[in-house]
Amino acid sequence: MDTRRDFIKKSAVMGAALCTPLSLTCEGLAAYPDLKTRSPKKVLILWYSQTGHTQRYARLIGCILKGKKLTVDEREIQDTDKEILPGYDLIIIGTPVFYYDTPSNISDWLETIPSIKGTPVAAFVSFGGPEGNQHNASCHILKILAEKGGVPVGRDAFRNIPSYPTPKWDSANQRSGQHLPNAVTFAQVRRFTAHTLERISRGETIPIGYEFALREPLRFLPLPSLNKRLMNRHTVDASKCISCGTCVRKCPTKAINPYNQTVDRGKCLACFGCLNNCPAGAVVMEYGGKPLYGFFEYLKRNSITIMEPEEFKTCT
Ligand SMILES: Cc1cc2nc3c(=O)[nH]c(=O)nc-3n(C[C@H](O)[C@H](O)[C@H](O)COP(=O)(O)O)c2cc1C
Ligand code: SF4
Ligand code: SF4
Repeated sequence: MDTRRDFIKKSAVMGAALCTPLSLTCEGLAAYPDLKTRSPKKVLILWYSQTGHTQRYARLIGCILKGKKLTVDEREIQDTDKEILPGYDLIIIGTPVFYYDTPSNISDWLETIPSIKGTPVAAFVSFGGPEGNQHNASCHILKILAEKGGVPVGRDAFRNIPSYPTPKWDSANQRSGQHLPNAVTFAQVRRFTAHTLERISRGETIPIGYEFALREPLRFLPLPSLNKRLMNRHTVDASKCISCGTCVRKCPTKAINPYNQTVDRGKCLACFGCLNNCPAGAVVMEYGGKPLYGFFEYLKRNSITIMEPEEFKTCT
């Protein structure tokens, strides 16, 4: 848990960030190394996904590439040995947008990968609402990869039902995203995949052009810490817990221990992965005094079935 001094320090940084001029949003790398190949054969797709949206898009991209007779490895990013990255001809990274940015556990992971000099790289994000800063969040991934020698060849953002829990799950964003992803979303994923391959074959790159977004400064705020201050309860109800271990698997920092009903609030990233995925409704969270329930429970209560792409019928 942050001390009062940490909180004041973070608030000062936050204030400075809010006053930072537009130039911060327009960074980019001047030149990339030459592409190591114009005809990739071995592709690595790494994804991070708490509620399945990003994983669905990663899987669809994998199906399309396998259909083109490429060798594809799809892996959950944090379970991946970083040393394998230089062995691929194309690396595609997908993450959700959390708190107007790339989730911090993923940007931290990417910061320590080995050199991937000359490897074509593409990034996509899944996101929940308009003004979610999705363009810059996906550029953030590309920027880190480019710093490791990767050559940006693709970028996109796919919108879907948000997985951010609110006490009633009924904000305007939640409702407007209710029927996403749909056929249009999947067509966008197919275009992203096709354009990425076409650019590689032509030896083309894309710029990492940060956009001015109204909510860009928000990504500099210590939002998870601020959020944790509003989470006035975060524990496990032992009488409901079925000891399935899902919350532990989904927790990026292993902050939750359902076996003794504790959450290490210092380690917790306020990602809601434990709440969203608990199959027994045993993760107890109160936000501003109001109880929260998770994403899959929200889908169930509203009889929402998430659409799957056609390719899944035939692709293994
Ligand atoms: C903690 C948290 C923060 C989020 N922050 C944003 C955000 O800043 N902008 C946005 O558009 N969506 C945001 N969302 C919605 C997610 O980006 C969206 O639901 C995403 O598709 C989830 O991907 P997943 O199912 O692969 O985990 C947030 C969701 C959570 C749980
Ligand atoms: S305890 Fe829950 S909210 Fe906190 S980091 Fe782990 S999964 Fe995310
Ligand atoms: S996901 Fe829920 S039921 Fe499973 S171990 Fe965690 S708290 Fe218990």
